[in-house]
Amino acid sequence: MIKNICCIGAGYVGGPTMAVIALKNPNIKVSVVDINAERIAAWNTNELPVYEPGLLEVVKQARGRNLFFSTEIEGSIREADMIFISVNTPTKTFGVGKGRAADLRFVELCARQIASVATTNKIVVEKSTLPVRTAQAIKTILSETGNHAKFQVLSNPEFLAEGTAVDDLMNPDRVLIGGDQTPEGLKAIEELTAVYASWVPRERIIQTRLWSSELTKLTANAFLAQRISSINSISALCEVTGADVDEVAFAIGADTRIGAKFLKSSVGFGGSCFQKDILNLVYLCEFFGLPDVAKYWEQVILLNDYQKRRFAMNIIQTLFNTVSGKKIAMLGWAFKKDTNDTRESAAIYVSDHLLNDMANIWVYDPKVPEKSIYADIDYLETRSSEKNKELLTVTHDPYEACKNAHAIAVVTEWDEFRSYDWQKIYDNMMKPAFIFDGRNLLDHKKLMEIGFKVKAIGKSY
Ligand code: UDX
Ligand code: UDX
Repeated sequence: MIKNICCIGAGYVGGPTMAVIALKNPNIKVSVVDINAERIAAWNTNELPVYEPGLLEVVKQARGRNLFFSTEIEGSIREADMIFISVNTPTKTFGVGKGRAADLRFVELCARQIASVATTNKIVVEKSTLPVRTAQAIKTILSETGNHAKFQVLSNPEFLAEGTAVDDLMNPDRVLIGGDQTPEGLKAIEELTAVYASWVPRERIIQTRLWSSELTKLTANAFLAQRISSINSISALCEVTGADVDEVAFAIGADTRIGAKFLKSSVGFGGSCFQKDILNLVYLCEFFGLPDVAKYWEQVILLNDYQKRRFAMNIIQTLFNTVSGKKIAMLGWAFKKDTNDTRESAAIYVSDHLLNDMANIWVYDPKVPEKSIYADIDYLETRSSEKNKELLTVTHDPYEACKNAHAIAVVTEWDEFRSYDWQKIYDNMMKPAFIFDGRNLLDHKKLMEIGFKVKAIGKSY
């Protein structure tokens, strides 16, 4: 029976996952540790570093009871019988596999740290999304501890989506646990199964071998992203033929073999996982000498880049082929609604294209702080950070963002955008007043009645 869990990495995945495990297992002590002291401090307040609907309530119930956030990494590892590794695994920006392979140095560091401080047997759980066979590397490092501690490595990928993390954790479609098919491995799988079985029905807990579990995570994300790229490819065709992409999506989704979910055409998918995981899959295929398979999956990414570029180019062309010196209001910056996460958000790339044409962008997002917005755009290194500050302004007032603007670009599907006073916004804009709805979120008919010129994804108004 597991009594003490440690999770290394208090991010979007580690934080919410451990909060729910602690809530549902009051007899297990759960310590979440992180090298980032500021982040840990925030987890101990009511201003959590991660915005997720319902998360604060869960944290408040368990925090101080059996859920603890600290920077005491070594002490927590030593005490724990089960250690989750939930650190970030960004795409490598240098060297072998640059731009594709996952940078596993944080995972490796965790394994080394566990190896150096552990004195008793432990189960190590990969929570971060990792390329297939990473567990082998972790095992190799752990086997070199010098003391007599024994380790079992499990893969337990996270399928929660940001913005719905608490619901996804409370009521998952499935929990996946992969491990070695040895007596010790199977025992470790059972131990972790028992933790989830506190609230997840047994039949939803899938047990597999280690490599299947690792590969399932990459495959699930690749399939999901592929649906979006597929419908987005059709959106371009809709715009030139007069078909309506929402009608097409609805009608194909009614076929139960296709299904209705994840068919919402958009300015392009973002988030920390899809692009990274597919690139990872592409890299794996190339590594194993399967270039045709690599190309097949790479196309999902290329189509997504195309969709973001197409949206930006449509804005420039519609505004009479130049946005230079024109004020463009950007509503939304997060990669989707109900999160303050901006990793790989379409907004960043759309803005970059517009800034290249010297647009004057005013950004409003209900949850993303100003410093993240500048950090995101500076990170691209397309222009100096002074230039970005000069061309891009962040505001807390959507009406101010839209005032005297030539166009509005809706890039995140925040619910609040629907309830704005669109007549008032229209009255204060430059004419003709354009709206580019990258999420098909707003009531286009009503906007056109007001006088807006509406451009939307997969529509040909
Ligand atoms: C997760 C997964 O780990 C990633 O593999 C998956 O594909 C996406 O979700 P996420 O929780 O979103 O990542 O990442 P992030 O919010 O960046 O959190 C990672 C945390 O780990 C950070 O707070 C960071 O400070 C911490 N960390 C990183 C450590 O504590 N130690 C390290 O050595 C590196
Ligand atoms: C995803 C997976 O859904 C989750 O299972 C995995 O564990 C992590 O990666 P996440 O990145 O948090 O989760 O968000 P998700 O809801 O999948 O959205 C990803 C992107 O796709 C967002 O930018 C979203 O706006 C976009 N999207 C989603 C669409 O454009 N159309 C859709 O129909 C659905």
